[in-house]
Amino acid sequence: MRIFASLSLGVLVLASVSLLSQTPAAPKTPLTTAQVLPPMGWNSWNYFAEKVDDKDIRDSADQLVATGMKDAGYVYVNIDDTWEGERDANGVLHTNAKFPDMKALADYVHSKGLKIGIYSSPGPKTCAGYAGSLGHEEQDAKMYADWGIDYLKYDLCSFIPDVMEKQAPNDKVAQMKLMVAAYETMHKALKATGRPIVYSFCQYGWDAVWEWAPATGGNLWRTTGDIQPKWDRIYAIVSQQEGLESYAGPGHWNDPDMLEVGNGKLTLAENRTHFSLWAMLAAPLLAGNDLPNMKPEIKAILTNSDVIAIDQDQLGKQGARIYSDGEVEVWTRHLSGGALAIAVVNAGSDRYATHPFHLNLRKLGLTGRQAGKDLWTGKTIELTENMPLELPSHDLLLVRVDAPTRPGVLLAPLPKTITGAAQ
Ligand code: GAL
Repeated sequence: MRIFASLSLGVLVLASVSLLSQTPAAPKTPLTTAQVLPPMGWNSWNYFAEKVDDKDIRDSADQLVATGMKDAGYVYVNIDDTWEGERDANGVLHTNAKFPDMKALADYVHSKGLKIGIYSSPGPKTCAGYAGSLGHEEQDAKMYADWGIDYLKYDLCSFIPDVMEKQAPNDKVAQMKLMVAAYETMHKALKATGRPIVYSFCQYGWDAVWEWAPATGGNLWRTTGDIQPKWDRIYAIVSQQEGLESYAGPGHWNDPDMLEVGNGKLTLAENRTHFSLWAMLAAPLLAGNDLPNMKPEIKAILTNSDVIAIDQDQLGKQGARIYSDGEVEVWTRHLSGGALAIAVVNAGSDRYATHPFHLNLRKLGLTGRQAGKDLWTGKTIELTENMPLELPSHDLLLVRVDAPTRPGVLLAPLPKTITGAAQ
């Protein structure tokens, strides 16, 4: 069924108007408040794939509310591939039998205070071989708007062999122009509807999409091929985000793909680290797990409000890997109000225990003791220069420091202890 699978190597928080003025590279279309921060929600693909139907979407919407995920910020309920039926003589695309009434489904999702997303391709077929939007962009966009759709994921798929390679064989530059034009066509069609619809590009990070997606109306763009619920794949994707920090900002985000938290055989540490790193990356947080059967420990990860606050920080500045020492990596993310998030990740399968990792605060531009909050224990923590840290395999320490001390910044005097004055 997934005829193009091989190509797939692949809160709504009401933001203040002042936030818009911080946009580093203003996207073409004015942003609605819903589009400013990295989108949060749930998408059907990672768990249901081609089996998804109307009932699964309704159940997932119900669960977003019942589990508190909606209150934590997960508002988009996104239907991925395989909802499409056939076009009629007027070119109108109908749903298939799994989705008897899309308008009614959208109304149901909206009645829960949630938003609804859908999926298509600029090619004649989607990645799973269903009808794409080629030649019907305006008609499809209008239909989405009539249904009340709030989000579109647009997946390149068959556009590669059927348009790019056919129209411009062996000419990569011309192929890229065709691709950019296809994303622009749908952007114009969505804009013409007058409905705010988050526009998500899915073309696996080809042709440095981060350089042209914001100007082509993209609110987010996939930076890599598909994620899988496996540590090695998640870590490979994380490594591919290096250098992309400067392209993200309010209203336009790098998308390292949807979350696999709670899927496959990921350990709790791996789920925690995956989620934390997506927050450090200012990534869209689209859960992709089986919500009706979500275990409490997975819900605890997905609804950790401190970690979500890192992801949704209003400064919109993506974090970066600052240094690594063997298999331990240190990431930071600058947050609004001068705060800093620090993630120390043990990416290795294990570490030689008699030679622990020592934290180098100077490399992070910090001096002296840093008082912070460990976002996974909820406890206060003090980070000190050269402190040894032992982390289990694939686990992390995630700390928020609200008032980091940097060279040149006066250190507050240490409190006197019972045994005498601090040195
Ligand atoms: C892939 C895409 C996946 C999913 C799938 C559906 O190309 O990367 O996220 O949408 O197609 O067929």
